[in-house]
Amino acid sequence: MGQDGGFRAEEIDTSRPHPARIYDYLLGGKDNYEVDRRAGDELAAAAPEVRIGVQANRDFMRRAVRHVVGAGVRQILDIGTGLPTSPNVHETAHAVAPDVRVAYVDNDPIVNTHAGALLSGSGTTSTVLADLRDPQAIIDHPEVRKVIDFDEPVALLLVAIVHFLTEADEPERIVATLRDALPAGSFLVLSHATSDFADRRDAEAVYNQATATLNLRPKAAVMRFFDGFELAEPGLAQVPFWRPDAPSPAGSETIGIYGGVARKSA
Ligand SMILES: C[S@@+](CC[C@H](N)C(=O)[O-])C[C@H]1O[C@@H](n2cnc3c(N)ncnc32)[C@H](O)[C@@H]1O
Repeated sequence: MGQDGGFRAEEIDTSRPHPARIYDYLLGGKDNYEVDRRAGDELAAAAPEVRIGVQANRDFMRRAVRHVVGAGVRQILDIGTGLPTSPNVHETAHAVAPDVRVAYVDNDPIVNTHAGALLSGSGTTSTVLADLRDPQAIIDHPEVRKVIDFDEPVALLLVAIVHFLTEADEPERIVATLRDALPAGSFLVLSHATSDFADRRDAEAVYNQATATLNLRPKAAVMRFFDGFELAEPGLAQVPFWRPDAPSPAGSETIGIYGGVARKSA
């Protein structure tokens, strides 16, 4: 981060597509560059359901946030925040309980700056530039600690981020490190891309030129991220079918994103 709280130009790689900006483009946002739009169009050509998929993922996140806040959780650690897309996590949470505190974590300086600008002045949120691949640094980060008390239940959001971790990153160890920092009564909200419903190797190839690779995983592999948690009904489901509150859009059965919400019991 720059001294003024902004980012230095050299930190932003606009020569290669970036997941946060591709996702923003697919959601209809404006915080993206030509390389990101091209990658987004290639992705939509390789996986036609991707546009309804990203919207369904976002809607899943909002239903899951309402669920965990409704269950009494008052602190949310959202890792892989993405560029602000209203309603954001804190807006969704505050509609249920205005005293919810949210720590937003992302490794993209653009996300960090936009989220920081959007949320400045609010004592109940903090925005942190950090990387999921170093989970202990997130747990120990003073800006995270400002709003998250690890002695009280926390909802950990890992929504559409773990598929950017390769096997070499040891994603199960990373999720387990975060889980072990959470007290009983905490929740994990996780969504993850898969090719269980269609061959999506072409979609993975688009990300191979991006700043993060896409690592599609089958259901059994995604289930392992919930070790130590108890999944709430209906278990790990395609995101449009996790407790839908409106009719699912046509083509929803082809959406290759799993989502689940689970509670840590001990
Ligand atoms: C597809 S967006 C998901 C945004 C939001 N969670 C949602 O589901 O609507 C993925 C986000 O994860 C971030 N990200 C990817 N890899 C990351 C890492 N290793 N550490 C922290 N953030 C990461 C990207 O910058 C991007 O903002």
